Amino acid sequence: MSFKDLLKSDLLLVDDALEKYLVTKDGMFPKLFESMKYTTMAGGKRIRAFLTLMFARLAGGKAESAVPYACALEMIHAYSLIHDDLPCMDNDDMRRGKPSNHIVYGEANALLAGDALLTYAFEVCASNKFVEPARNARAVGVLAKCAGPCGMVGGQVLDLEGEKRKLNQEELHHVHNLKTSALIRAACVLGCCASQDGDGYIEKAKIYGQNIGLAFQVVDDILDVTSDEETLGKPIGSDAENNKTTYMDFMTLEEAADYARKLTDEACEVIGQGEAAEILKELAYYLLERKN
Ligand code: IPE
Ligand code: IPE
Ligand code: MG
Ligand code: MG
Ligand code: MG
Repeated sequence: MSFKDLLKSDLLLVDDALEKYLVTKDGMFPKLFESMKYTTMAGGKRIRAFLTLMFARLAGGKAESAVPYACALEMIHAYSLIHDDLPCMDNDDMRRGKPSNHIVYGEANALLAGDALLTYAFEVCASNKFVEPARNARAVGVLAKCAGPCGMVGGQVLDLEGEKRKLNQEELHHVHNLKTSALIRAACVLGCCASQDGDGYIEKAKIYGQNIGLAFQVVDDILDVTSDEETLGKPIGSDAENNKTTYMDFMTLEEAADYARKLTDEACEVIGQGEAAEILKELAYYLLERKN
């Protein structure tokens, strides 16, 4: 199957599973589930989920076994976006081409929808019935470390600090590594955790994930300057408005694009050969050229 076809069919697989997870249980808290679903199902690219399924395949496992992990990652990602858009953070009123969660449900409910997605993600990850409990426990640990204080949340803290004073390039590298690369790295490692023989692939997953994760945020910073709201599905110029430190404080747009390419090349060098590896290479360059 071609890269684009596989991406499309995996997306359907993950969306179908997410739809099933995100329904009210015994009719409880329908509004809460509605708001969780509103952002999660609003049409993201699902690249974190796809990475998890691809790394499960690369490591000799079945993509289906990794679907609950992929859903957990997309839930944590959706929570991070809901909180990232809040007025006390980036104050953005559009996400995935729709009004942001807090615009529709109010700030307090948006905060709680994020909290619920975060905690529910761990329940989903820990109860993956296709994988033995010891591996699920390991997956929970990886997810917690990458999303937590020394991962994505820590990166968001430093990102906010970068609004008050200009960070140096090393600090900015650290921000990108944590706020974006950490979860992308987790997506790759979780795919390995879903496979019985996945341990030998974890190092590769970390290096590939780290590099494409960094490139991903560099491209995100570029698109914030060069794209338009309709294409991007979120406001442009948000970084400048919030006085963020971005790579454009240190490089021209062309230099930043070259840097993202160099990181992508490095990711592809480690991934090796074979059907799944070739698709992961295609994915890396697709992300580099993406328009949204
Ligand atoms: C946006 O992530 C936030 C960043 C970490 C840059 P994506 O660009 O993957 O957003 P969706 O999931 O496609 O909406
Ligand atoms: C990504 O950074 C932050 C996370 C959600 C972890 P941005 O603040 O640049 O993401 P966008 O541009 O709003 O999607
Ligand atoms: Mg932000
Ligand atoms: Mg933002
Ligand atoms: Mg951005």
